[in-house]
Amino acid sequence: MFRTRVCDICEIEYPIFQGGMAWVSDYYLAASVSEAGGLGIIAAGHLTPEELREQIKKAREMTSKTFGVNLMLMSPYIDDIVKVVIEEKVKVVTTGAGSPGKYMKAFKEAGIKVIPVVASVSLAKRMEREGADAIIAEGMESGGHIGDITTMVLVPQVVDAVSIPVIAAGGIADGRGFLAAFCLGAEGVQMGTRFVLSKECRVHQNWKEVYKKAKDRDTVVTGVTTGHPVRAIRNKLTRKFEELERSGASKEEIERLGIGALKKAALEGDVEWGSVMAGQIVGMLDKEMSVKEIIDSIMNEAVELLRKLYMEHGR
Ligand SMILES: Cc1cc2nc3c(=O)[nH]c(=O)nc-3n(C[C@H](O)[C@H](O)[C@H](O)COP(=O)(O)O)c2cc1C
Repeated sequence: MFRTRVCDICEIEYPIFQGGMAWVSDYYLAASVSEAGGLGIIAAGHLTPEELREQIKKAREMTSKTFGVNLMLMSPYIDDIVKVVIEEKVKVVTTGAGSPGKYMKAFKEAGIKVIPVVASVSLAKRMEREGADAIIAEGMESGGHIGDITTMVLVPQVVDAVSIPVIAAGGIADGRGFLAAFCLGAEGVQMGTRFVLSKECRVHQNWKEVYKKAKDRDTVVTGVTTGHPVRAIRNKLTRKFEELERSGASKEEIERLGIGALKKAALEGDVEWGSVMAGQIVGMLDKEMSVKEIIDSIMNEAVELLRKLYMEHGR
């Protein structure tokens, strides 16, 4: 059940992606997710080309299954990063922060599947025209850099606008969210926040403890005034952001505050002055689970829920 075009394109068992997360989704998390039947994705946003090559090699030592690489198209190393992805014969790339158009021909020639992350219908249509194999429609409930439309509203509109498969992202963490995404027409889901709170995610333990305690309204969006909104857990850093934004500080000053903030939280465990990016669904999570438990429970719950809905409302 729930075998879709996304499974065929990515050669995976279950249509569940672990979203690329800079400083958070390393080879260990990605390989573990792929081993459990989903698509693990190594984030390349913060890596040099040689660091990425190393990560890919280590993932291959852990799994023979397909995994992906998430490209940050604004990375200063992007040309060389793309070269590494092609040389290492990575099978799937997801892309954010721009259009992968410039690299599309090279990816296609190398047989690499390209799956851009979009937050609007117009960008989804453009990506399809440029040759994308599928689209991740990411709602503003998500953790990290976001757009301004909710998953509930974005996904069906993207599904109607393109004929390639759509993967829903933002606010999904269990079988209920998975099934809801399918009801909206998605053929897969991408989760970030849920996988951060997994045993295989090697983010600093302080970060995980913050996630466990977080409630439904504990995330906040900063950076709207600079045009780069980010959703993270409210802390001293986000308050400082809000203060600067209210005071009319320059874009440069506001953005300077964010430099190195994700690393500070993820590696050093500074959850007050670091950026603890998280989606709104973090309020529902209180338990660290293995990635296999996460994926198996989602698939089982979705099937059970479908059966229950049919029994109760199917006549
Ligand atoms: C800590 C964190 C870091 C993220 N970093 C990236 C990134 O580097 N590139 C990217 O395309 N998306 C990034 N995202 C977004 C995720 O890949 C995913 O699409 C999103 O988390 C889905 O929403 P959810 O958090 O509600 O599950 C990040 C999300 C989180 C929580």
